[in-house]
Amino acid sequence: MKYDSRPFRLVRNEQLADGIFDWTVENDTIPALASCGQFANVKVFGRTLRRPISICDADERSLRLVFQVKGEGTRLMSQMKVGEEVEILAPLGHGFELEKGKRYCLIGGGIGVPPMLFTAKQCENPLVITGFRDKSLVILQDDFRNAGAELVLTTDDGSAGRKGFVTDVLSERIGEIDEVLACGPIPMLKAIYSVCKGKVKCQVSLEERMGCGIGACLVCACKQKPKDGEAFMSQVCRHGPVYNAEEVFFDE
Ligand SMILES: Cc1cc2nc3c(=O)[nH]c(=O)nc-3n(C[C@H](O)[C@H](O)[C@H](O)COP(=O)(O)OP(=O)(O)OC[C@H]3O[C@@H](n4cnc5c(N)ncnc54)[C@H](O)[C@@H]3O)c2cc1C
Ligand code: FES
Repeated sequence: MKYDSRPFRLVRNEQLADGIFDWTVENDTIPALASCGQFANVKVFGRTLRRPISICDADERSLRLVFQVKGEGTRLMSQMKVGEEVEILAPLGHGFELEKGKRYCLIGGGIGVPPMLFTAKQCENPLVITGFRDKSLVILQDDFRNAGAELVLTTDDGSAGRKGFVTDVLSERIGEIDEVLACGPIPMLKAIYSVCKGKVKCQVSLEERMGCGIGACLVCACKQKPKDGEAFMSQVCRHGPVYNAEEVFFDE
């Protein structure tokens, strides 16, 4: 069994920052199957489509999911009470591929930061660069430090950490790393890839509207660059959400 839909118990629901919530959910069998970069599809009471949320961390019995309230589904999730049951389909998708002996640079932008925590825990001495719009949205800094990462914080307006973009730091440090793993908004991923191109390998995690989350409905189809021959449509829920950046059409 690679994934399954099971009832989880919500054991923690805390507000981390303005509109951003931190869940821990428990189940006896599913969490141990998770690997970094995968996601969970959360059933929201009264809604047909589940909400895809990246796995921020996992151990034998629990998943940590950090989410931002965007619409009705995530608003209802934020209001759930500790002790309630929630149906979750997980772990889904193709996550980050890691090789021993490499120094990784992990980059997260905004709500793309959470999946980089589980990833940082699987890497040796990673350099982690986190970028946020401003101080009010900064999350998970202590968690990355506790995971042993070398951590750099940037904000667009300089209200916390260094003023500027994650790519300013990446450009300065690119000579020290073997590969970049990134999650965040498309313009950020595109800018990261242009710094990496021709220098270091880069894997990016993409976000796409989803239905089933398991490759059955085609809602998440996106065009992907083939290694040779014609471009083909890929299902982000199944072939992704993590891709080699060179396979991604950033402009289309
Ligand atoms: C692989 C993956 C991982 C994600 N990880 C996280 C995470 O860790 N934290 C986080 O805060 N958000 C994450 N998102 C985005 C999150 O799924 C959406 O913000 C959420 O589904 C919005 O639901 P809603 O009901 O609040 O919003 P509404 O806009 O009301 O949603 C309406 C419908 O559109 C879908 N939808 C809306 N926005 C998105 C979106 N950006 N991606 C996919 N489906 C969407 C919803 O699932 C729902 O079916 C992730 C998305 C994907 C695809
Ligand atoms: S969400 Fe259904 S195929 Fe990807």
